[in-house]
Amino acid sequence: MAHPAHSAMPLHARIQRAIRQLILDGALGAGRALPASRALARSLSVSRDTVEAAYAQLHAEGFIERKVGSGSFVAEMPEFLPGQRHLARETLLRNQAPNLSKRGAAMLQSGGVRGSTGFRPFTQGIPETRMFPLQLWERLERQVLKDVGTDALLPGDPQGAEPLCRAIADYVNLERGARATADRVLVLTSSQQAMTLCANMLLDPGDRIFVEDPVYHGARKAFEAAGLDCVPVCVDRQGIKVEHVLNAPRPAKAISLTPSHQFPTGATLTLDRRLALIDWAARHQAWIIEDDYDSEFHYAGKPTACVQGLDRNDRTIYIGTFTKSLFPGLRIGYVVLPPQLVKPMTVARTLLDGHTATISQLTLARFMENGHFGAYVRMMRGHYAQRLEALAALVRTHLSDFVEPRVPVGGLQMPCILICDIEERVAVDAARRVGVDLMGLSALHATQPMKSGFLLGFAAFTTAEMEVAVIRLAQAFRALAPKL
Ligand SMILES: Cc1ncc(COP(=O)(O)O)c(C=O)c1O
Repeated sequence: MAHPAHSAMPLHARIQRAIRQLILDGALGAGRALPASRALARSLSVSRDTVEAAYAQLHAEGFIERKVGSGSFVAEMPEFLPGQRHLARETLLRNQAPNLSKRGAAMLQSGGVRGSTGFRPFTQGIPETRMFPLQLWERLERQVLKDVGTDALLPGDPQGAEPLCRAIADYVNLERGARATADRVLVLTSSQQAMTLCANMLLDPGDRIFVEDPVYHGARKAFEAAGLDCVPVCVDRQGIKVEHVLNAPRPAKAISLTPSHQFPTGATLTLDRRLALIDWAARHQAWIIEDDYDSEFHYAGKPTACVQGLDRNDRTIYIGTFTKSLFPGLRIGYVVLPPQLVKPMTVARTLLDGHTATISQLTLARFMENGHFGAYVRMMRGHYAQRLEALAALVRTHLSDFVEPRVPVGGLQMPCILICDIEERVAVDAARRVGVDLMGLSALHATQPMKSGFLLGFAAFTTAEMEVAVIRLAQAFRALAPKL
């Protein structure tokens, strides 16, 4: 689609710009003949005067030469101009950044965490955003600007806006059984940033960190990018198998966990395992990195209290985020830190991004203080519980020849295990071709004898949308395994 500013431009200027771009990109090299103005006018269905005006402008700018009787030609450019463009384009095309550090190359190689911004059923990790009370948010933001005025435009506190730190501490104490005070909360842009900070501030390259197997890819990538040695520890229906941690031949400096709803299995870590890990961390002076990313959405009773609240030894770093509970575009996450880490982590974050955007922080603080956060989460919990139930029923009705659903007690995604001969990669590719996004499970496993399958993110889709997608998926799978 034409850029709006572009379409407002006179025709001759648009033609002139397009030809200039081709010359700058190196697509039209020096000496190349341009079409005769009469021929180009005919093929573009414009008047010859329009083309003449474009050529005249290109000539005046030195991009083309005009020779009476023989036509118009691309002029010789100063050496650096087209060459430089050409090089940059080639580099982009080959997708190879030259001269990266080893660390940089490894980060590029990891592929990052979010490959694309587009989403379709059943992209995982995305909450419903169409029901968000935007007008209320807008009103609160206006109130903030009215009350705080231009002070909101100045640099903010790197630890976070005080009202938000207070609101977060109150929330995690009440809802998650945490032991937090406002001065131990550090507001960040995401859990991802929190994991990167932990990896770089608490461990050195080559240090070992226990991670769940299967594991949240974002955590593993953050740790690997910091040069850590990720040691996988398998997970069963009660969460990470603690005996493997306790009996490991070589200790690790930290362990990273998703205890409320293990990613991707959905298992909840049992109390005895939590206590055993807290004891292990105290004995080894190790850190527990607790990623409590979606505990708001627990559908069977109350979620288990967080590990941080049970840990009297201050070895746990609690990570929270508003990516799932509100919306991913907000970019606000936080950590509740042991007292001795508040200063080092706050100083370190100033090197990453200074602080989180003040206006959003203050708006969120009001959203929480006025009870809107609690009400919104309760409402969405109801919707998500219904959507999960609907999805499980749809999978049982239409996909029972192919997969077995593992209905979780919480979270925003449901694992499905393949029970037919279709390979996971083939299933994921076939789904993509019919507009359905599946996250394969195999890539999340390290060593465990793995069951192949995929995750279905259900929170962001209505029952009707999910039905259409499940039926398409069933048709695609049927085409791969017609005998079933
Ligand atoms: C286990 C887990 N932790 C953290 C996150 C991301 O949170 P944030 O956007 O705050 O980095 C996700 C998102 O999918 C997740 O699945």
